[in-house]
Amino acid sequence: MPRSSDSFALFALMGLSCLMASGCADSKPSDSSNNVGDRKYTIGFVQTGSESDWRKAHSDSVRQAAEDAGYELKFADGQGKQENQIKALSSFVAQRVDAIILSPLVETGWDNVLEKAAQRNIPVLILDRQVEVEDESLFVTYIGADTYNEGRLAAEWLIKNTDGKAKVVELQGTPGASPTLNRYKGFRDVIKDHPSIEIIASQSGDFRLSKGKEVMEALLKTHGDDVEVVYAHNDDMAIGAIQAIEDAGKKPGDDIVLVSIDGVKAAFESMVEGKLNCTVECNPLQGPMAMEAVAKILAGEAEDMSKRQMIKDEVYDRSVAKDIIDSRKY
Ligand code: AHR
Repeated sequence: MPRSSDSFALFALMGLSCLMASGCADSKPSDSSNNVGDRKYTIGFVQTGSESDWRKAHSDSVRQAAEDAGYELKFADGQGKQENQIKALSSFVAQRVDAIILSPLVETGWDNVLEKAAQRNIPVLILDRQVEVEDESLFVTYIGADTYNEGRLAAEWLIKNTDGKAKVVELQGTPGASPTLNRYKGFRDVIKDHPSIEIIASQSGDFRLSKGKEVMEALLKTHGDDVEVVYAHNDDMAIGAIQAIEDAGKKPGDDIVLVSIDGVKAAFESMVEGKLNCTVECNPLQGPMAMEAVAKILAGEAEDMSKRQMIKDEVYDRSVAKDIIDSRKY
């Protein structure tokens, strides 16, 4: 198995051979694109699906950035299934695309298919969610949010705004997905020093509005007035929960405090209406950063690229929502 440094050397060499194959090793791109000479690079992008508003913004961002960079983007929609993503990745390998971007649905189970890409010398960039693989040289770099920190930030906001005392129900994201695991852990790592913050129930809503609503309806039936706070791993599930809370005759934002993650437009609208209390940003506009990295990789300039490139997030609550909403880009 190649080690990290070998892989970087490999990708550097690949960049060089790409240049040489086009017969213009010393030429610069003739337009604003990152292509070299007449060669148009093809990038395969394997997306999780379209489970949330965040995901739609993410797909659009990658598509737009690829177009701006002059790449041909082949888009594969995993439709919420890892097996679909693995098939798509294998197919991109068979097609010998120049590079692959993978937004993995779940964290584990990628070793074999990434090895196939490595055997064909196709560089892989992991975007948004993380993978756990035995050999980290199977991917060049990870670009995405620090989702562990997002969980921490949600908990810190909650402690500050409930005087450290609350009964919480948690709506988790897709089981096994890195943001689910990280937001679960980050939140708990902060509240563990605050024994009066109690998680009374925790269930998956799969990052989907409809599932968030369904789970919340059931939780309200079981726990009734005990539910004081909803911690949702994304905005879509929080908005589903808001609908369930309203259907149960309660006032979201007042009777029940809601804190979630993403910072999509609909969350800001809910905050302006007073129904959502806080959202921790998770920026989906990752396309430009991804394409910049792809350009470096294809040019053989990835040796110094850091293995993890984290995007910084902010916290927004109801007190600032009105002033911020018009400047939101997703
Ligand atoms: O991986 C990022 C998460 O996936 C976002 O928080 C969620 O909305 C999306 O579906």
